[in-house]
Amino acid sequence: MERHGSESYFVLGEGLLGEAVGGRERPLARAVERTTPPFRFSRLGPNGNGKQLPDATLRKLASAMTAGGGGLGQIPAGFTYLGQFIDHDLTFDKTNVMLGATVSPTALMQARSPSLDLDSLYGAGPADPESAKFYEADGLHLRMGKTSAVGGLGVKQGFDLPRGAGNTVAKKRKGIIPDPRNDENLAVAQTHLALIRFHNRVVDTLPAAVPPALRFATARELVTKHYQWMIRTDYLPRICAPGVVSNVFGSGRKAFEVGVPATDVPTMPIEFSVAAFRLGHAMIRKAYHWNKVFDGESGTLGFLFDFSAGSGELGFGPRLPSNWIADFRRLYDFTEAGRADLAMPPAKFNRAMRIDSTLTTVLEFLPGFPTNQANLALRNLLRAKMVKLATGQQMAAFLTSKGVSLTQLTQAQLRDGSAGADLSGLTQPQRTALLQNTPLWFYILREAELNNGKLKGVGARIVAETFHRAMEGSGHSIVRDTAWRPSLGPNSTTFRMVDLLLFAFRGRKNLLAPVG
Ligand code: HEM
Repeated sequence: MERHGSESYFVLGEGLLGEAVGGRERPLARAVERTTPPFRFSRLGPNGNGKQLPDATLRKLASAMTAGGGGLGQIPAGFTYLGQFIDHDLTFDKTNVMLGATVSPTALMQARSPSLDLDSLYGAGPADPESAKFYEADGLHLRMGKTSAVGGLGVKQGFDLPRGAGNTVAKKRKGIIPDPRNDENLAVAQTHLALIRFHNRVVDTLPAAVPPALRFATARELVTKHYQWMIRTDYLPRICAPGVVSNVFGSGRKAFEVGVPATDVPTMPIEFSVAAFRLGHAMIRKAYHWNKVFDGESGTLGFLFDFSAGSGELGFGPRLPSNWIADFRRLYDFTEAGRADLAMPPAKFNRAMRIDSTLTTVLEFLPGFPTNQANLALRNLLRAKMVKLATGQQMAAFLTSKGVSLTQLTQAQLRDGSAGADLSGLTQPQRTALLQNTPLWFYILREAELNNGKLKGVGARIVAETFHRAMEGSGHSIVRDTAWRPSLGPNSTTFRMVDLLLFAFRGRKNLLAPVG
């Protein structure tokens, strides 16, 4: 593993995509950002110098990837936005809440390390002056917000993110949460809220014997370890070939940060952040059977942006209207936990789009970006080119050289896929170049497409190893604490996302689906 402490992979102000970190709102002033060391990124595989395709080819590929098609997969749609929430936890920039305080360069470096510690939920903790605003006055519970009454539905406390004061649209009531990206669309915002509720319920159910001074820390550890268990046993095997996940978590990593001391600060491989974990973009639907009011796919992706304060204006009202509160029964399958009473008929249940090489057509024009840069697939491909990301073939060879057993996709498999992106719009020379030097993100999505919508081979390995290392290097870690078992699910080995939600919402239908 190479560390590139001095190399910034995300040089800003350069190139087509250089206007903001990740193309989104920047959390820090540019000057501050420049003085912050870019330690958190590493390059897992080889440099893809000389292997990058011309922009014209990438544009055609992006068009093919956003031409629609694909179809539904088997994964409940809630996992799409759980994935986005996890992404924001992994790549969380703590300097956002820490710069107010004095931070040593070492702390800053650690602050920017990828781990699964739920910093995106907790910030720097209730004792930190910058983060105190996320907490109730007791310094234990996380704050929640209320909705506004509409169409016979009253004001509901605890069903939106806590939001700023000011009741005019101009003031845009942004979520008061450590990571503003979790207010980017309503589905991720409601996922964040579910995690807030989970923490609060854990606080409420702590044994009385836990002394006051330890109550927050004890709750946070319990929450974090359950969250990691859920990711390891429920989220990851849904998106990745389960055999690869078990292999990495059972026998250890073969390629990424092998042999480093477990508590060393992990880095973030660009192959994960710029390619593999962008798999979530393929899972996004163009519309959702959102709740009883916005049924029949009238909960469009556009509305999910509009009813957030990050991409929209909460529907132009001062607060989230009550009729937009999520119905979690439509996003997760509670029959997995034996709750037939919370089942939804297939016509009202949202499955995510299959993980494949197609994205919904809506993502061809992301709101708020200049038109020639608004295609999300193009942004991902150009971002990879900017950092000279290794190709799929280079990564397959690299992982094989590390002893990973995988079969490299053939040119015919890459060309034809399985009901995914149609490459016939590329010229013959463009297609030939693409099949020889295949952008990693596209390669990984083709792998998944040929494996019934689950990552396999190169993609599964990169994702499983990065998650393993991120959990290993977290302050609280189920990888290091091998004896730990969940206590808040149905038994000592089971804790799934449905169990998390049932615990957080007290198993009650009127809380999991307050709109009815
Ligand atoms: C409606 C939902 C989503 C939207 C609108 C969205 C949009 C974006 C945009 C605009 C970028 C920056 C692109 C660039 O300029 O490089 C990005 C980056 C990224 N997205 Fe998404 N995304 C969504 C959901 C997801 C999901 C579900 C996942 C994973 C499960 C995901 C994973 C990532 C990753 C790993 C990055 C790289 C940067 C980072 O966050 O550190 N996204 N996304």
